[in-house]
Amino acid sequence: MTTPRRLPAALLLASALLAPAARAADGPALVVDAGRPGAPIAPTMWGAFFEDINFGADGGLVAERIKNGAFEFPDGMMGWTLEPDGGTGRVEVRADAPAVAASPHVARLTIDAAGGPAALVNEGFRGIGVKAGTRHRVSLRARAEGAGPVHLRAELVAPGGRVLAGAELGPVPSAWAERSAELVPDATEPKAAFRLVATGRGAVDLDLVSLRPAAADPRPGMGALRADLVGLLDDLRPGFLRFPGGCIVEGRTLANRYDWKRTIGPPESRPVMINRWNDEIKHRPTPDYFQTFALGFFEYFALCEALGAEPLPILNCGMACQFNTGELVPLDQLNPFVQDALDLVEFATGPADSPWGSRRAAMGHPAPFKLNYLGIGNEQWGPQYVERYAPIARAVKAKYPHVQIIASAGPAPADERFRYLWEQFRTLAPDIVDEHCYAAPSWFLDNTRRYDDYDRSGPKVFMGEYAAQSDRTVSPNNRNTWACALAEAAYMTGLERNADVVVMAAYAPLFAHADAWQWTPDLIWFDNLRAYGTPSYHVQRLFARHRGDRVLPATLSGTPTAPNGQPRVYAAAARDDAAGEIILKLVNATARPQTLHVRVDGVKAGPRVATLTTLSAAPDAVNSFDQPQAVAPRVRQATLDAAASSLDLPPHALTIARIPAR
Ligand code: AHR
Repeated sequence: MTTPRRLPAALLLASALLAPAARAADGPALVVDAGRPGAPIAPTMWGAFFEDINFGADGGLVAERIKNGAFEFPDGMMGWTLEPDGGTGRVEVRADAPAVAASPHVARLTIDAAGGPAALVNEGFRGIGVKAGTRHRVSLRARAEGAGPVHLRAELVAPGGRVLAGAELGPVPSAWAERSAELVPDATEPKAAFRLVATGRGAVDLDLVSLRPAAADPRPGMGALRADLVGLLDDLRPGFLRFPGGCIVEGRTLANRYDWKRTIGPPESRPVMINRWNDEIKHRPTPDYFQTFALGFFEYFALCEALGAEPLPILNCGMACQFNTGELVPLDQLNPFVQDALDLVEFATGPADSPWGSRRAAMGHPAPFKLNYLGIGNEQWGPQYVERYAPIARAVKAKYPHVQIIASAGPAPADERFRYLWEQFRTLAPDIVDEHCYAAPSWFLDNTRRYDDYDRSGPKVFMGEYAAQSDRTVSPNNRNTWACALAEAAYMTGLERNADVVVMAAYAPLFAHADAWQWTPDLIWFDNLRAYGTPSYHVQRLFARHRGDRVLPATLSGTPTAPNGQPRVYAAAARDDAAGEIILKLVNATARPQTLHVRVDGVKAGPRVATLTTLSAAPDAVNSFDQPQAVAPRVRQATLDAAASSLDLPPHALTIARIPAR
């Protein structure tokens, strides 16, 4: 251990985080070699993984507030009720005279007593969240049937029955026509309902009922998305976005695998499908969970573009989920899956007059999107995966050599399936291997050196899904505690130190609706009006915002250890080229403050104003809707010597120090 240099006392007073150098004899020490920068840290290093789980898409990131507005769920009336009070109507879902051929079902609302009213009510996604004074656009297709005339009115209604907003949709013609209006609620209500009231005589056929905030993002594809959730994503500064899953890619059976070609084009032409999380987690069933694909592949690419993130689509490789049926496409029938992969690259990046590029152009984006990464399979394993992965990867690489192919290493970070696949990858040579890990916080603390010994000549690593579990995987009792987030931060220092091997990483899952989730923990929780980032969110955000461009060699010594001999103070060092700063990411996972003696070789000694960002809290601390910032970063500045200093690391804390060092 090298003794840190002593600073003038006046400089040391500047921050509570700085300890007098006289205490240098105690505590851990970090030596950083700024004169010998190591591997570049990929711009993709810290990204995000979106899957439509926990109502992440419909009812979440998708701005649409009406559930089953096209009456295409298997139970055509799911989400809708015929209002009994004062109503005089009947409703039936029919398929004999659709407004749009691709969306065959419509609801026929019949007014039984002359004059009516007859009313249909939509419950939204565990209610409809509306804010006072916000403009909402309601639109639908309607046609009158029978004697007529029929008048329609749209309303937003509070749970007690008070009408928050109402607008006339006018008389309904006998041929299908679009009707729209604006609703501006006079109060904020998280659990409103949407009511369509028909008056007059006869019946009205209804389809494609929609309600969404009027002030939508005008960029193609982005208007479909909920702005506050996009904002939280944006604030994460993800280097990439992996989508659309996850197990959802695989499906329980091949019939309900994710097929990207069914998710593009006009929204009403995208066939509704059950969401595999509908009944997957038996203790958290959500029978009303279906995918409308309002968030389809075009929207995913548009979102990536808006976020400045590399798109990373994952494709089904001819295998249904091996935790379910494990259904396989026979090898001699794999061609459509190969073609899907090739067509996807063309859809995203092909010229606007190419067969698939023209589909993108028709959706409003003639310029190509980016597509430099492609995942083949989600959590697959065994020879059956290798046999299916190989021809798809070969075909994509042959036609699009620049596309980085990502292969799955299975669902666990170290088991027989994992070892078998890695062995195969030595010869199959994917560009990147996708590893997953859901484990106790102790696993993350004990595995910060996991990649120190990885083979530097093989494929790179994508830590594609990880999250510390406060209870156990798939337990509904998992909580997004600070202890979990801190363990992830410690682990991430190990990923960053090994940035020559690890080129991407993402926490999982991303979103959860507070009233409709299946899986916990999650990065961002939301309800119909609000959203907050968990402690893990803040860790991800800080690592991404302080990524740095190159790893700096950093040697940590004298750290306190756990009973198993593993360290409990962790560090990574990087250089930000443009800012000319050294970035230290420091984790103290002990319950005591630690004085870390830092020596930085290769920089000129002298006082510098450093920025210190700290996340610290009690291990069981969580964020919530009421206290969204209970665990949140605190930023302060302090003067220290660029070449030698002592930093006081609070207990249970992540500290990020940016030290100017030009
Ligand atoms: O993130 C939740 C699930 O965990 C993903 O769908 C799957 O890939 C993993 O098993």
